[in-house]
Amino acid sequence: MSRPAHDFHPALRTLHWLMAALVLAMLFIGVGMVSTAGPAYLGLLALHRPIGIAILLLVLIRLPLRLATGAPALPADLPPLQHRVAKGSHILLYASMVAMPLIGWAMLSAGGYPVRLTEGLSLPPILPHDLAVHALLRQAHTIVAILFFALILAHLSAALMHGLIRRDGVLRSMTIGHRRLAQAPQAEPAPQATAPAAADPAPLAPAD
Ligand code: HEM
Ligand code: HEM
Repeated sequence: MSRPAHDFHPALRTLHWLMAALVLAMLFIGVGMVSTAGPAYLGLLALHRPIGIAILLLVLIRLPLRLATGAPALPADLPPLQHRVAKGSHILLYASMVAMPLIGWAMLSAGGYPVRLTEGLSLPPILPHDLAVHALLRQAHTIVAILFFALILAHLSAALMHGLIRRDGVLRSMTIGHRRLAQAPQAEPAPQATAPAAADPAPLAPAD
């Protein structure tokens, strides 16, 4: 399939923002969980497991869709190193979205804990009971979570750099898209000849 000229496929944009919210929520729920010894722990864990598995299912839908619909080309004036860093960081973001839920699921399996999603719905273990493996995966879950968070902060900074400084359309390609931008001036009524001088017609929206 050919690559889209300017924007990500609308379904990919929807999935991006839905999953961004879920992943950020999961990082905070996880930290909240391990920082409390109170009764909130069980409630947070009961949220953490199904949202984590939902992220795994969503990324398994998102990846083939991304491969089928492609991505808009990055701006041609972006230095080659930044181009490579952008691509590499996206691959790492996808890898983290697959790895974190799998590590969580495997860690509970190796610890012999049930992977309960809702009342009456549990997932089967994906690893045999082994406390040494459980301890290793428990550490891996923390380390990958920290790296994931750092990667997301860098990703957010890059997105803001594109949107606020370079204003090169990259942020828009993942938000409202460029088609709406192109249609915007026709959708606006023509400015009235009698309008006061101060009320200049709105300038064309910038690229981002
Ligand atoms: C994108 C998915 C996920 C993210 C971002 C995530 C994030 C986190 C974070 C940040 C922590 C706290 C780590 C620490 O401070 O040591 C944590 C702990 C934990 N997570 Fe996840 N997690 C994810 C998926 C899962 C899944 C799918 C499961 C299980 C099915 C799971 C089970 C747990 C458990 C059991 C703990 C430790 C609780 C404890 O030690 O008391 N996580 N997670
Ligand atoms: C919180 C604010 C966020 C903003 C403003 C943002 C913005 C963007 C933008 C503008 C792009 C397009 C970049 C390009 O074309 O090269 C993008 C791509 C991407 N974002 Fe985010 N993002 C955010 C959060 C997240 C989070 C939390 C995740 C995942 C955990 C994530 C995962 C991705 C991935 C994997 C891509 C690559 C898309 C692809 O090529 O298929 N983003 N993001």
